[in-house]
Amino acid sequence: MSRPAILVARYVLPELLDRLSQHFEVESNQADQLLSPSELIARLQGKRGAFITANEKIDAALLDACPDLRAVCTMAVGYNNIDLAACTARGIAVSNTPDVLTESTADFGFALMMAAARRVTESERFLRAGQWTHWTYGLMNGVDVHGATLGIFGMGRIGQAIARRGALGFGMKVIYHNRSRLSPDIEAPLGARWVDKDTLLREADHLVLVVPYSPAVHHAIGAAELARMKPTATLTNIARGGVVDDAALVDALRAQRIAAAALDVFEGEPKLHPGLLGLPNTVLTPHIASATGATRKAMADLAADNLIAILTGGTPPTVLNP
Ligand code: DGY
Repeated sequence: MSRPAILVARYVLPELLDRLSQHFEVESNQADQLLSPSELIARLQGKRGAFITANEKIDAALLDACPDLRAVCTMAVGYNNIDLAACTARGIAVSNTPDVLTESTADFGFALMMAAARRVTESERFLRAGQWTHWTYGLMNGVDVHGATLGIFGMGRIGQAIARRGALGFGMKVIYHNRSRLSPDIEAPLGARWVDKDTLLREADHLVLVVPYSPAVHHAIGAAELARMKPTATLTNIARGGVVDDAALVDALRAQRIAAAALDVFEGEPKLHPGLLGLPNTVLTPHIASATGATRKAMADLAADNLIAILTGGTPPTVLNP
């Protein structure tokens, strides 16, 4: 019996390709160039499986053009790039990679929040530019993290891991907003309190966005929301770019309606709103919250586990449409 053909749409470690090759005819994109929608369709012809990342868009048009596809496995926890309903309607299994990236992503989210609050990257740019002449009382004064109120928008696994760092490591008060309240078993050890969105915006000293992207949260943080935040507050986004209206954020930062923002994700990335780059009170990183060697390997391994299980009749560990 011939082995199913798959496409590995982006670079993975060679040993993972070897493992996949034990089960499949593998076409891979080790050069790692971004594939345009038409290139992706062309490469998926005759393929039963697609190993993708958050960059490859899987929509109904692509699925119609690739009728052999039976599995779409992304090495990301977010899957807003995949039309899950269209896959399900065509009998295509979809998987993502939750859990394995939770702690690394939370580390990075916390680091971004601290960098914004304590003006770490702004200070470094100032020093490297030769602007440091002497100590002064007000030089790079920031806002405290310890003991402050941490607001989490989207208290899933990563949100809870950030809350744990804040509550247990930094004595922060944790408030959160989710569609539904978490069980007391989760809230109690963190001292976490569910609040409505308005209270979250008004009370948070440091607001961290970790909500999964869907049209329901498109521009959930826009001009009106930013206006409700404290002028000393920071905003950190490790969710998806579309959650924040970047133009409104640029206006708010420019007018110092909030103190600072730390962003790992952007609307239309890798392009950025041009206003962001010129603002001193921003920390900007290129969508790397889960990027450690160990975590990237765990994500790729889990995506492969799913792909192998789906196409060989096993039980995929983290399928989204069982
Ligand atoms: C994720 O896993 O969703 C990250 O954003 C990486 O793409």
